[in-house]
Amino acid sequence: MDKVIFEVFRFIPEENKSPYFERFEVPYTKGMTVLQGLLYIQSKLDGSLGCRFACRAGICGSCAMHINGVYRLACETQISLLGEIVRVRPLGHLPIIKDLVVDMTEFWNKYKQIKPYLIHSSSLPEREFLQSVDDREKLTKIVDCILCGACYAACPVVGTHKDYIGPHAFTKANRFIRDSRDNGTLERLRIVGGEDGIFRCHTVFSCQEVCPKDIDPSGSISELKMLTTRLAFTSFDKSKIKV
Ligand code: SF4
Ligand code: FES
Repeated sequence: MDKVIFEVFRFIPEENKSPYFERFEVPYTKGMTVLQGLLYIQSKLDGSLGCRFACRAGICGSCAMHINGVYRLACETQISLLGEIVRVRPLGHLPIIKDLVVDMTEFWNKYKQIKPYLIHSSSLPEREFLQSVDDREKLTKIVDCILCGACYAACPVVGTHKDYIGPHAFTKANRFIRDSRDNGTLERLRIVGGEDGIFRCHTVFSCQEVCPKDIDPSGSISELKMLTTRLAFTSFDKSKIKV
């Protein structure tokens, strides 16, 4: 393969009546990623193309987009795995600012709802909170969430219930609930178990399928459902409901 055709979603809400796809021919080089192809378009063919990225290494989460039918990170997706046509669209369920760039305000506001920080009920230690190796092990994998938004964009419930908090936030809520240094379990379960929370999940596993970090948001939702249900039937005792 010496060239690849990019079909790129284009849309400027203030200028275009409706979105359209524009085709670009990009010379292929071995090991080229989708992000590198988009940057070639930006630098050589059309400097007006809007696309978001930062780390180029699968760490910042800002390049998530819909690539040949699946939400993925553009910087980690090899064109060789896709074939000669690469069709890219922005993340779903979020307003488009320009082309592949979406407004993430709603995504971050929902994330903030679950209080994404350690909550302490006791006074702060003189130096630091210690955590045993076993307790740290409970956070392995789940701390790898880079908040890319792929799970949010793939979730059908986000598309039908605009206030649904979303799999990214539930995953983070579970991450803090699992943390031995945190005392916010009760507060968070009340939030995630509420009207716009986990019990709206239809368990279709779209979030699990697309997560580029192989985290299991649907597994976190199941854990939170179990904890919330237990909470409803027992008087609250943190030691009993801690994961
Ligand atoms: S759980 Fe996975 S898909 Fe969802 S925001 Fe985190 S890294 Fe992205
Ligand atoms: S540019 Fe940071 S994850 Fe792709």
